[in-house]
Amino acid sequence: MNIRRKFSNSENESDIRRRILQHAIEWAMEAGKLQREKFRSGHIKMDTKSSIHDVVTEVDKACEDLIIGHISSHYPSHSVLGEETGEHQSTGDWEWVVDPLDGTNNYSQGLPLFCVSIGVRYKGETQVGVVYVPYLDELYTATLGEGASLNGRFIRVSRKTVLDECVLATGFPYDKGTNPINNLDNFSAIVPNLRGIRRSGSAAYDLCCVASGWLDGYWELNLKPWDVCAGELIVAEAGGCIQSFRDDRNISIVAGNKAVVSAVMDKLVKP
Ligand code: IPD
Ligand code: CA
Ligand code: CA
Repeated sequence: MNIRRKFSNSENESDIRRRILQHAIEWAMEAGKLQREKFRSGHIKMDTKSSIHDVVTEVDKACEDLIIGHISSHYPSHSVLGEETGEHQSTGDWEWVVDPLDGTNNYSQGLPLFCVSIGVRYKGETQVGVVYVPYLDELYTATLGEGASLNGRFIRVSRKTVLDECVLATGFPYDKGTNPINNLDNFSAIVPNLRGIRRSGSAAYDLCCVASGWLDGYWELNLKPWDVCAGELIVAEAGGCIQSFRDDRNISIVAGNKAVVSAVMDKLVKP
């Protein structure tokens, strides 16, 4: 599709996206700084959400407030979908999809893999993706049609094609104890065929690792838009592909290069 034709605004579309990208970076890093300051401080307030396995901290909420506050003051016509506060509808065609802290379980335990994820869509198509990993000081970014980068250097997905040489990541849903579609069947079917498997605890970071080739692939089910909006664009712009593998568990995807995605698709237990 011709990206140019989609924009109705008089400002040049690459200027709009550049401005949005810069703001998304700035606000993701500001939230990341807050996360670093409070990390392992020993007195972070916590609550549970959908189940006892699903936690939220005061830092998740503070980061979402901070990011949404910036969006609504700089872009009042843009809508926002935030994990902690839901939909904030506005009049325009732009929508920011925000996971203020992806990897909350890690964060609350004092484990250092967590990140801020901000994806920005125009008429439903993601234009900009930013994932900032504060503890590692890694900034992953992508703009539609312009490639993906890590700390300013272009990244590409892995070139491996043989599953036995691959290290993949996956995850398990918060309702794994009550819903039998919990990925354990896929895990048993796929892991014996791999060099290695990882469970980082952050879907957005997993996708960035696929984009940069640190991981050869990733699959997970029951993800939400804020987990993947930025990361999917980062993978696609790094030359990777994303394929959905079922439609009865929210967002359920495989990511990697074409060969790895197809090999994983073949092994997944079909609904
Ligand atoms: C979770 C993480 C985790 C994935 C879960 C997500 P949260 O996000 O990305 O890796 O397995 O499905 O919900 O709750 O830490 O923002
Ligand atoms: Ca998340
Ligand atoms: Ca989150």
